[in-house]
Amino acid sequence: MTHDDEILQRMMANNRAWKAGVDRDDPGFFERMARHHAPRVLWIGCSDSRVPGNESIGLMPGEIFYHRSVANQLQMVDFNGLSALQYAVERLRVRHIIVCGHYGCGGVKTALKRNELGLLNNWLHGVAELSRKHKARLDELADRQHRIDALCELNVLEQVRNVCRSPIVLQAWRRGQEISVHAWIYDIASGLLHDLEATVDGDRHAESTIDTAIAGPRLFSTRA
Ligand code: CO
Repeated sequence: MTHDDEILQRMMANNRAWKAGVDRDDPGFFERMARHHAPRVLWIGCSDSRVPGNESIGLMPGEIFYHRSVANQLQMVDFNGLSALQYAVERLRVRHIIVCGHYGCGGVKTALKRNELGLLNNWLHGVAELSRKHKARLDELADRQHRIDALCELNVLEQVRNVCRSPIVLQAWRRGQEISVHAWIYDIASGLLHDLEATVDGDRHAESTIDTAIAGPRLFSTRA
């Protein structure tokens, strides 16, 4: 058996052990799961394998509805992302939407290199535009790693903007549905989540909240 096969066996074995543990701690858990799907949170995150899911935030299955894409994008032409957003808002009626990026994002790094990965560069076009828009400020930073991390933060805030500008969320707010959209970033090197302090609770202050966060001192203070 090769090492590549071994990981599959390990996954199956771990799954059996995990299931047994959950059954022991909370009998009936899986029967409950099968009957209801009522998560309170939609998580829009990066596909990066180093950004963990439930285990790092102490949550069990059933608590978070996930949408993950390269560089945690929510683009207005992305049927997959918009479908997940619509289902989460209109059917599941989530209370919170968290856009969670991470420092050292490979997608963000790729966006800075032109034509390296074909289609992926199309997907990351918005991130490349963002780096151009904020070039002066990014160039002031000490080194490339700081510039990438700052761009990771800017990218989170721009995706929060996309979520807030989407007709799905705008209409929900207009209906009086309570939804808060949050900008978080995960530090792979420390295992800690950070709040970029740009929580938006409604249409009225959405743009100004995001613009204030972009201009404010919290940003670009990498991994503070
Ligand atoms: Co990433």
